[in-house]
Amino acid sequence: MTAALDLQGVACTFTARHDPGQRYTAVQDVSLTVGAGEFVSVVGPTGCGKSTLLNVGAGLLAPSTGSVRVFGQPLNGVNTRAGYMFQAESLMPWRTALANVAAGLQFHGVPEAQAATQANEWLRRVGLGGFGDRYPHQMSGGMRKRVSLAQTLVLDPDIILMDEPFSALDIQTRQLMENELLDIWQAKKKAVLFITHDLDEAIALSDRVVVMSAGPGSHPIGDFLIDVERPRDVAEIKTTPRFLELHAAIWAVLREEVLKGYAQQLKAA
Ligand SMILES: Nc1ncnc2c1ncn2[C@@H]1O[C@H](COP(=O)(O)OP(=O)(O)O)[C@@H](O)[C@H]1O
Ligand SMILES: [Mg+2]
Repeated sequence: MTAALDLQGVACTFTARHDPGQRYTAVQDVSLTVGAGEFVSVVGPTGCGKSTLLNVGAGLLAPSTGSVRVFGQPLNGVNTRAGYMFQAESLMPWRTALANVAAGLQFHGVPEAQAATQANEWLRRVGLGGFGDRYPHQMSGGMRKRVSLAQTLVLDPDIILMDEPFSALDIQTRQLMENELLDIWQAKKKAVLFITHDLDEAIALSDRVVVMSAGPGSHPIGDFLIDVERPRDVAEIKTTPRFLELHAAIWAVLREEVLKGYAQQLKAA
């Protein structure tokens, strides 16, 4: 079957910020596929190029070498089949929750009344029915993340790209959001590429976990099938023997890379 997202032999080279004459190859030889309906997480040390890869998948960054295909078609420019959820807050502070969720639809030419109906429906699905008239500053961090999630999903993308979307949340809110994401994903079966530095989160959510090496020239060094049945509860799954086994196996590969990544950060600081 054609992959939803297919990166082959991707490398990304940047000009170093502090020294424009110097080049830095963040990722190299990255081949990574996400099947239609598959939930894939990428874990790796800070600075290894996870966000870079997601930007490549979103079509926001063209790789220096390699190819990107979306449902079999070469990607040129922004990936219109994908919805993107960033790590940082992305709501427009001057718009209500409803208007934030409806914005993307309106940009796509959906009439206002219809956009509002769909936005309301998605607010309800993420547990914010009745909060549509709140402005971002009148909501908690967790609520704002729910709005962001609705904002991404209302456009009904075939591929969902998420860059550490829940990392700023407290653990309870985070688990609620993770379970909610799984429920929605289970119902809609979209392809998900999920970036996280949290191995527990990656295992709990995914069909597959890909481990990246420390940079420069970061690339996948492990690809683990998460053979744990669904539906899952992200809190409960963490106490099961299979989860602990998988965690130990993946951590054995990830550990050294995290230490290398940490050493590099200290050197750079
Ligand atoms: N636009 C850019 N210009 C220069 N260097 C960049 C740019 N984007 C990312 N980098 C560098 O590439 C590396 C990978 O960054 P990033 O993808 O953000 O890592 P991660 O998301 O895994 O923490 C880092 O060393 C970062 O400083
Ligand atoms: Mg990042």
